[in-house]
Amino acid sequence: MPSWPLDLADGFGRVHRDLRISVTDRCNLRCRYCMPEEGMPWVHRDEILTFEEIERVATLFVRRYGFTGIRLTGGEPTVRSHLPLLVGKLARLGVDLALTTNGSTLATTAGDLAAAGLRRVNVSIDSLRRDRFAEITKRDVLPQVLAGIDAARAAGLGPVKVNMVVMRGVNDDEIVDMAGFGRAAGVEVRFIEYMPLDAQHAWTGDAVVSRAEIVARVAAAFPLLDASVAGEEHDAAEPAERFRYADGLGGFGVIASVTEAFCDRCDRVRLTAEGKLRSCLFALEETDLRGPLRSGASDDDLAALIEAAVAAKWAGHAIGQPVFVQPTRGMSQIGG
Ligand code: 5AD
Ligand code: SF4
Repeated sequence: MPSWPLDLADGFGRVHRDLRISVTDRCNLRCRYCMPEEGMPWVHRDEILTFEEIERVATLFVRRYGFTGIRLTGGEPTVRSHLPLLVGKLARLGVDLALTTNGSTLATTAGDLAAAGLRRVNVSIDSLRRDRFAEITKRDVLPQVLAGIDAARAAGLGPVKVNMVVMRGVNDDEIVDMAGFGRAAGVEVRFIEYMPLDAQHAWTGDAVVSRAEIVARVAAAFPLLDASVAGEEHDAAEPAERFRYADGLGGFGVIASVTEAFCDRCDRVRLTAEGKLRSCLFALEETDLRGPLRSGASDDDLAALIEAAVAAKWAGHAIGQPVFVQPTRGMSQIGG
């Protein structure tokens, strides 16, 4: 018998411990950088992994490769029917089980998700102005999202993190407001550099607000602790760089995917809703696990496919360099 767990390492020595599972490509919002207003051609139900199939793959990652974190994503994961059933299955694996959501359903789903064993949620909010929120997402649901955050905290799904994709000329005038919201609400805001992953391929480098600019704007309004102090909290595999306010009112994070890529410490692999394994958000190739799962593959067969996919993982995404090629699929199809 082999002794498990084994390190799932790639050709650059990066060991993988974090699995992101997209449970659906569908979404009830239409964020302008993610989906066209008319929606996308949804993947047919039969092509989506069942909860049993997801559980089998997740179990393999945890038992065989010692994975310690699983995050459920989408599309919008909470629009998948009976999601708490899947959460219950995955919670038994004893890993840090989290969910990335647009928050619009949390007011009604947070309690069941928490009871099923979910530990934490990240909620995406790109604007705190109701009209602008509706313009960005094409749905007027900011009040529901804010109520969802309260429900998540009440259900014990904390610490709640709030993700804001910062886009120049769209919402960058709200950086300080968002920081203030985080301080007042006791949630950790994470500012995300806008990445070239939009379905419409409308991204340009000019729309990116850099980590340096974000930190400078927040710091001008709310003084920060010495950067070296914040730096000490930096968890090696965690993409967010964290900063603390000098007055002790919490902190915020910045995910500098574009200007300071964290590819060299990446420990993630992704499973799409259709059962394709992706070694990188920006990967141009995927490995199908659904076919093998449905034609009787053994765990060793699946492991061989997984190990080959990870072994071929590239060094990084090279955004901003001439060689960069944008994936044909957007975030809702890949799974954030
Ligand atoms: N750039 C940065 N973040 C993105 N997200 C979706 N598309 C992009 C993009 N092009 C974010 C969502 C959500 C998370 C899953 O990814 O806003 O917070
Ligand atoms: Fe839905 Fe998230 Fe895409 Fe917005 S970014 S449309 S909430 S999947």
